[in-house]
Amino acid sequence: MAATERKKTFRFSEKREKEIAALRGRYEYPQGLIMPLLWMAQYDEGWVSPEAMETIAEICETSPAWVYSLATFYTMFELERPIRYQIQVCHNLSCSLNGSESILAHLEKKLGIRAGEATEDGRFRLSAVECLASCGSGPMMQVNTEYYEQLTPEKIDALLEEFGRD
Ligand code: FES
Repeated sequence: MAATERKKTFRFSEKREKEIAALRGRYEYPQGLIMPLLWMAQYDEGWVSPEAMETIAEICETSPAWVYSLATFYTMFELERPIRYQIQVCHNLSCSLNGSESILAHLEKKLGIRAGEATEDGRFRLSAVECLASCGSGPMMQVNTEYYEQLTPEKIDALLEEFGRD
C-alpha cells in the first residue's frame, strides 16, 4: 500500500461497545460474538463491509476469513453497499446514434466514476446497458425504476442536483 493511501477502518459506536462488553459474558469463546456483531454492523451501516468484518474478527479473536465465511453462509447479511440511485444508460444502437456515449461520458465526469462503478458514498452506481425498449426517445437512461428520455447534459445536471437533495 502506498504511503499516501489510508486504509478505511470500521469502529462500533461507544453505545455498541458497551453492548458488546455486556454480551461477552454470554459466550464461552469470543467467536460466539460473531453473529451478534454482524447483526449490529448491518443494522448500523445498512450492510456488512469488509472493514466491519476485519473489526469483528479483531474483537472475536479470529481471522477475517472466518467472519467472511459466516457472513456469506447466511443470506440475510448484505455484503454489498446499498446503492441509492442505480443509473443505467442505454448504449444500444438507436441511443448510440442519438448521442448516448456523450451522455455516459458526461455522467462519468460529473460523478467521478466510470461505467460499472459506484460512488464512494454509495449514492450512485453507473452502468452502460443494452436496449431498454425506449428506442424512439434516446438517448435515455433508467434510474431505479424511472425512465429519463431525450437526455442532454443540461438535463443530466438538473437530475443530479435533484437526486443530491434527498
Ligand atoms: S436502443 Fe436505447 S432504448 Fe433501445
